Amino acid sequence: MTTPEPADRVLSRASLADGSPTRWFDELYTAAARGEAEVPWTRGAPNADLADWVEPGEGRRALVVGSALGDDAELLSAAGWAVTGFDVAPAAVEAARARFPESGVDYVVADLLKPPGEWHQAFDLVVEIINIQAMPREFRAAAITSLAGFLAPGGTMLVSEVAEENVAPEPGPPWPFSRKEIESVAQDGVKLVGLETIRDGARYWAEFTR
Ligand SMILES: C[S@@+](CC[C@H](N)C(=O)[O-])C[C@H]1O[C@@H](n2cnc3c(N)ncnc32)[C@H](O)[C@@H]1O
Repeated sequence: MTTPEPADRVLSRASLADGSPTRWFDELYTAAARGEAEVPWTRGAPNADLADWVEPGEGRRALVVGSALGDDAELLSAAGWAVTGFDVAPAAVEAARARFPESGVDYVVADLLKPPGEWHQAFDLVVEIINIQAMPREFRAAAITSLAGFLAPGGTMLVSEVAEENVAPEPGPPWPFSRKEIESVAQDGVKLVGLETIRDGARYWAEFTR
């Protein structure tokens, strides 16, 4: 007997074949809400590297890209940041709101590839953890330009992606990052502060400012 292919593989393949880099995320979260699929990146807890980094927000504005079920956004909110979390998948936004009904986080549906204009240089902290790598490489440059544009002067941007140098090439998602691609977030006035590999070389962790 063969093991059934996980829903994320089946849905992403169909979505990408139709030319949509993101449709499958909403389909996957919708199937998961019905108990028909697993969302492989959900942990029910904040990202451990972000939890190690977190500093008091003192009311400053933070943007969590690809906020999924809300754990990272809630971590920052609890630390005093005024958090906006956005995700391209309406079902993810709905699930995050349902999980945290008393939340101070503003959860919104938005696309990193077409972000709202009022977010330009509007955030003191921008958190991007393993989202851009979940879109095919042809969307990477546009996604990185959007990301860099969110950071306010004097702010901090954290970027973590799977490191290409330490994984065997496989068909995505994910499509891992090279060191040079992480460094390319430093554009249009954004500067690299530090770049390291974490998790035994499996991921990059980079910090930027403007
Ligand atoms: C691999 S998951 C990572 C989720 C979360 N950041 C984490 O660390 O667990 C990618 C997330 O990004 C969202 N996403 C993918 N493409 C996006 C886009 N273009 N704009 C906004 N969100 C996007 C997906 O819906 C999904 O929730």
